[in-house]
Amino acid sequence: MSRVVVFDETGGPEVLRIVDEPPGAPGPGEVRVRIEAFAVNRLDELTRSGRSPASVRLPRARLGCEGAGTVEVVGEGVSQFEAGDAVIVTAVPDMTAAGTYADHAVFPATRLIRAPEALSPTRAAALWVAYSTAYGALVEKAGMQPGDRVLITAASGTVGLAALQIARQVGAVPIAVTRHEAKRDALLAAGAAAVIATDTEDLVEAARRHTGGAGADIVIDSVMGPGLAQLAQAAKRFTGTLVTVGWLDPRPAPYPSAPVTTHRYMSFEHTLNPEAVRRIAAFLYAGLRTGALSPAVDRVFPLDAVADAHRYLAAGQESPGKIVVSTQAGA
Ligand SMILES: NC(=O)c1ccc[n+]([C@@H]2O[C@H](COP(=O)([O-])OP(=O)(O)OC[C@H]3O[C@@H](n4cnc5c(N)ncnc54)[C@H](OP(=O)(O)O)[C@@H]3O)[C@@H](O)[C@H]2O)c1
Repeated sequence: MSRVVVFDETGGPEVLRIVDEPPGAPGPGEVRVRIEAFAVNRLDELTRSGRSPASVRLPRARLGCEGAGTVEVVGEGVSQFEAGDAVIVTAVPDMTAAGTYADHAVFPATRLIRAPEALSPTRAAALWVAYSTAYGALVEKAGMQPGDRVLITAASGTVGLAALQIARQVGAVPIAVTRHEAKRDALLAAGAAAVIATDTEDLVEAARRHTGGAGADIVIDSVMGPGLAQLAQAAKRFTGTLVTVGWLDPRPAPYPSAPVTTHRYMSFEHTLNPEAVRRIAAFLYAGLRTGALSPAVDRVFPLDAVADAHRYLAAGQESPGKIVVSTQAGA
């Protein structure tokens, strides 16, 4: 049997429960994966609590849009994988029907990539959503070039840390934004060229100071809310690009009036396209090999404690990195 995390109604972490289900046989073009670890994302929390705009398939809704594990059985017509291959699940657009919060699950083969050998399942589970989102927003959407000054909000978050490392990998200059002066040293140690702590300094003035008065070439924003107007002002007038990826601040966001190019980026734009996935994976794996990219894991919870993993996310993490759930005994 497979152990699967489900919920019958939306609500707090306590709605999550574990059920036993037959592991499922892969159909043509599908693969059954033994999931060793899956990451907890903000989207999971929104979906569980009923705050996601996407519809939730209740009861017995599932969760999870990324994970890592081993191929167990391949369906008819699947030639790119065989039993025993270590893989990463790159996209689950219908997560309440087919999510990764389980110890076994069936996915279309096109949603899987081989996992890098050097990464443990726990770190492999922490890679895809954060790094593919940061890459897609910065490189594919905003066209980041070496030398670009890149302002990164929520820089200590999982997407923010990935953006910081990817900017470094490309030769751009990452400027990290945090709400807390106390995080300055950690962000400098993580590779930020400069840090703007909004509890002690003015964002727009500091962004201009760190960019020789010009403003940032690119702003990648995970927060939105009322601060969006200021972020647009921190970008270079006329040639700057503001790309929003997240909505950590749920308050209304004003449409930016500053003259910058704006984009909204959703990673499914690329991760449902196998050609784009190959491109993104090639970039990320090169960065992993050189050490430019290094997915951080904050805490690992055992499967039985999946609700605690959600509580920990809601409480605000103690240190940067991904929250991961391991399905392995003894985790
Ligand atoms: N577009 C996509 O495809 C995509 C993919 C993945 C994630 N996302 C979204 O991107 C956002 C970031 O995800 P993540 O995984 O990086 O989140 P995360 O790891 O939970 O981010 C945590 C950090 O965000 C900052 N933060 C939290 N609440 C904030 C608020 N109200 N205002 C300002 N900063 C706040 C804090 O940094 P400081 O305390 O240092 O300020 C905190 O350390 C989420 O909204 C997520 O849903 C979108």
